[in-house]
Amino acid sequence: MNPPSLHVIVLAAGKGTRMKSSLPKVLHPVGGAPMLQRVIEQALCFEQWLEGLHVVIGHGAEQVRRWFDGQPQTAVPLTWVLQAEQLGTGHAVAQALRGIPDSARVLVLYGDVPTVPPEELQPLVDAEGLCLLTACPAQPAGYGRILRDGDGRVLGIVEHAEATAEQRAIGEINTGILAAPAAKLKRWVSRLSANNAKGEYYLTDCVAMAVAEGTAVTAMLAPDAAVLEGVNDPLQLTEAERRYQLRQARLLAAAGLYLADLQRFDLRGTLSFGCDVRIDVGCVLEGEVALGDGVQIGPYCVLRNCRIHAGARIEAHTVIDGAQVGQDATVGPFARLRPGSVLGPQVHIGNFVEIKQSRLGAGTKAGHLAYVGDAEVGAGVNISAGVITCNYDGANKHRTTIGDGAFIGTDSQLIAPVTVGAGAYIAAGSTIRHDAPAGQLTVCRAREQRSVPDWQPPKQQR
Ligand code: UD1
Ligand code: CA
Repeated sequence: MNPPSLHVIVLAAGKGTRMKSSLPKVLHPVGGAPMLQRVIEQALCFEQWLEGLHVVIGHGAEQVRRWFDGQPQTAVPLTWVLQAEQLGTGHAVAQALRGIPDSARVLVLYGDVPTVPPEELQPLVDAEGLCLLTACPAQPAGYGRILRDGDGRVLGIVEHAEATAEQRAIGEINTGILAAPAAKLKRWVSRLSANNAKGEYYLTDCVAMAVAEGTAVTAMLAPDAAVLEGVNDPLQLTEAERRYQLRQARLLAAAGLYLADLQRFDLRGTLSFGCDVRIDVGCVLEGEVALGDGVQIGPYCVLRNCRIHAGARIEAHTVIDGAQVGQDATVGPFARLRPGSVLGPQVHIGNFVEIKQSRLGAGTKAGHLAYVGDAEVGAGVNISAGVITCNYDGANKHRTTIGDGAFIGTDSQLIAPVTVGAGAYIAAGSTIRHDAPAGQLTVCRAREQRSVPDWQPPKQQR
């Protein structure tokens, strides 16, 4: 049975000295969002029963709050609890318990343990008394060890610093994650002392108190110790990132996404996708990305906050940021679509083409080496190699308008503001500073071509 009300406490006040960073530890990203956000998402999996989400902050508290203040509100609003001095995990929990009703069940999570699968937490939430999440990692050194009697009943937790050689040989460790009834937890933490090796109030001392007063104490041994590992240094951050990405890739692949390699896929945000969507190796997807039916993404592309419509193909090494790609369009290899770019259906963008804040109509092509910025381009336009919209005069940006079916010859510059009429033909190498009329050839070159018959090639100097 699920409890009538659940309150989650997230411990996030610690310093994180080993991160060697000015950024508070819990703001370091996992999957593109602060690891604390990932932990909050774990808690929100219990939204149905969740009545309070209390985050204990201390080091970098202002920075942490500021980040979350800038985000949309969570389904259960966050309660910030300031622990000005970090006197231990027991002290941290005690601060948060003040705002929690006696009748609640309390789940304690760590802000620096970002990859706990929610299914591991469910039994703790469902249990009656005190329930611990434990694990058997390859290297138990440093962790609190679980003490059990001859029948396997949990007796307590001994911290590594306090443990005897015999106790240090125990392989089962405390992950730190636990759940208990609020009233009891309040009673236990009020009785903690800091009379120990670290001079801290150890939350773990509550376990022996629970046993002593006859409260049921259970320990759930997690099958995979790695997912419960905390982040204390950049190495563990990278490991957490890989675990997060692998789990995400598996979930997406199981939900119908064709990934060339689960290990070489990074999503730092959210992805929605249709049928028959294929993503080759080494792609990075950020923010909100939507891929329509049959979209194919070639290797090593970066897609950020973009929508790619059905049937479009994005070739290798393309960067798309804040743009929309129309149905059956082809983009890349080596193309760059910058914010505000909207490509119509069947548009073709080839290598070394940059598009910024521009609309391109259906079937328009820019196959090679072009810059199109601040432009309104019609349908069926041909933008040849080397074409540049000169949108910036050094002080202001200006717009270029190109009508349907226009042909912009190779190596032309369109000096904005300027309009090229529908069906106009701009001769190669032209510098267009005045509007070009529809349906006519416009040529503007420094000088018409001539040949010099008595010309001599330069001689090498001695
Ligand atoms: C703690 C556990 C240990 C367990 C280990 C798992 C205790 C006494 N020990 O040890 O049994 O094996 O975690 O990683 O609980 N925090 C605060 N305020 C404080 C102190 C800590 O918010 O005053 C937060 C930290 O930011 C961190 C978490 O609590 O997220 C754990 O603190 P940490 O100092 O890393 O505990 P450990 O000594 O590793
Ligand atoms: Ca730790």
